[in-house]
Amino acid sequence: MAITLEIDPRRVKAVRDPMLYGHFLEHFHRQVYRGIFDPGNPLSDEDGFRTDVIEAMKRIRVPVIRWPGGCFVSTYHWHDGVGKTRVPSFDKSWRVEEPNTFGTDEFVKLCRKIGCEPYICTNAGTGSIEEMSDWVEYCNLPHEGKFARERIENGYPAPHRVKYWSIGNENYGHWELGAKSAEEWPRLVREAAKLMSHVDPTVELSAAALPDLDWTYGLLKHCGPYLKWISLHQYWDMMPEKNEPADYEAAMAFTWRIDRTVRAARGMLDSLDLTGKISIAFDEWNLRSWHHPRVHSLPLGVEKDDYLTPRDKNDDNSMYTMADAVFSACFLNAMNRHADVVKMANFAPILNTRGAIMSHPDGLVLRSTYHVFDLYVNRLGDTVVDLFHGEPLPLWRVKGKDGDLKTVESLDLLATKWSDRKGIALAAVNKHPRDAAEIVLTLPEEGQRATLFTLNGPDENAYNDIGRNEIGITETALGLYQKGMRVVLPPHSVNILQIV
Ligand code: AHR
Repeated sequence: MAITLEIDPRRVKAVRDPMLYGHFLEHFHRQVYRGIFDPGNPLSDEDGFRTDVIEAMKRIRVPVIRWPGGCFVSTYHWHDGVGKTRVPSFDKSWRVEEPNTFGTDEFVKLCRKIGCEPYICTNAGTGSIEEMSDWVEYCNLPHEGKFARERIENGYPAPHRVKYWSIGNENYGHWELGAKSAEEWPRLVREAAKLMSHVDPTVELSAAALPDLDWTYGLLKHCGPYLKWISLHQYWDMMPEKNEPADYEAAMAFTWRIDRTVRAARGMLDSLDLTGKISIAFDEWNLRSWHHPRVHSLPLGVEKDDYLTPRDKNDDNSMYTMADAVFSACFLNAMNRHADVVKMANFAPILNTRGAIMSHPDGLVLRSTYHVFDLYVNRLGDTVVDLFHGEPLPLWRVKGKDGDLKTVESLDLLATKWSDRKGIALAAVNKHPRDAAEIVLTLPEEGQRATLFTLNGPDENAYNDIGRNEIGITETALGLYQKGMRVVLPPHSVNILQIV
């Protein structure tokens, strides 16, 4: 059954912030070491950064990278990672040695090479509020005080100008080292925020939040005036202990009420009249949680094969199929729909583990999710506009990983335009693994050129790997738009229809 679709570019819903397509990089497994930071590899530059990874990040115009964690940060002391001599420390979160050869200065240098904003998450686990503000001194004071002077001595006379800072990671979680109670959290955040702002009043501060009244309501009530952001995280297909990915249908079940975390958080912001004053940074999201058995749970792994070796399983590219691409497009559509309050989102992570890019000694694998960012950053408009469909979207009963049945819409549609040029771009995701879908378009004007960009593979379980490129973007010219134009959306596909 065809869906009649009317797009009205005059009815603007929101202008999305480019940081909606942000990313995350943690000191975990091969994201930093043997990942972006690979000194000695012929593909690396004079600073040891993989130039092929940087180029791939530039192609999807990475706007911001959050670093250094994640759980890692809750026992990280930033001062170990600066200066001429770097002494290795023990990373108590992930239970490995941290060489400290990639630290603040290297991270900021990397961001400047990519052309993205650095976003630093601070240690609210074992760290002190003064350690956080010292970090701001080191990065942002021109020359006052010992930390700015130290940065200058380390070869960085100009301040790093780090604008985005998060107070803590998931300090609400039992798994986080140095976790805090809902009673402790607001006071710690407020005092940290005061100190950091006294160093640099221009910094934009976030704090770990939850769609949970006990934790977040108190945070907002006591810290609202000090925060520009609250940070939300979500993974749907939970695999920390068992690396058994949800299959395609179960992955689609995870799209059921995909924005409920945002809706709950924005409800709290609304109730305290903070919407518009505090934005949401969804600064860790991915369909698949990372695999790191016996490190977040008791008993902890003792033998390295219990808890360290299994982390290599995250590198198995066959797990990242069209399910990851379709799910990620649905999530980004949802964030665009909430673009009036969600101003940043960070795919977790960008490189290796469950990332959009996988690096190996001789090159890269661009996984299915990488191409979603390529489409959304380079082909979709920046202004979300209203759309009307004449019929209910087709429903599909799917079985979740937990065996429960869910009813999801098999199409996910988002209409956009550009703030600086004419035309529209429709993101159209067909979740169904077998059935194509057809849309019949009505636009205010006729005669513009229609082009369909389709991300797909031969089947829903297709994936990219070394020497295997099953998933990619095809471009199809559809001629000039006329009222009633019919467009077919293939099964298990992510599409951007441009009419410009
Ligand atoms: O699995 C990785 C972890 O997920 C991140 O370090 C943490 O922020 C989240 O719980």
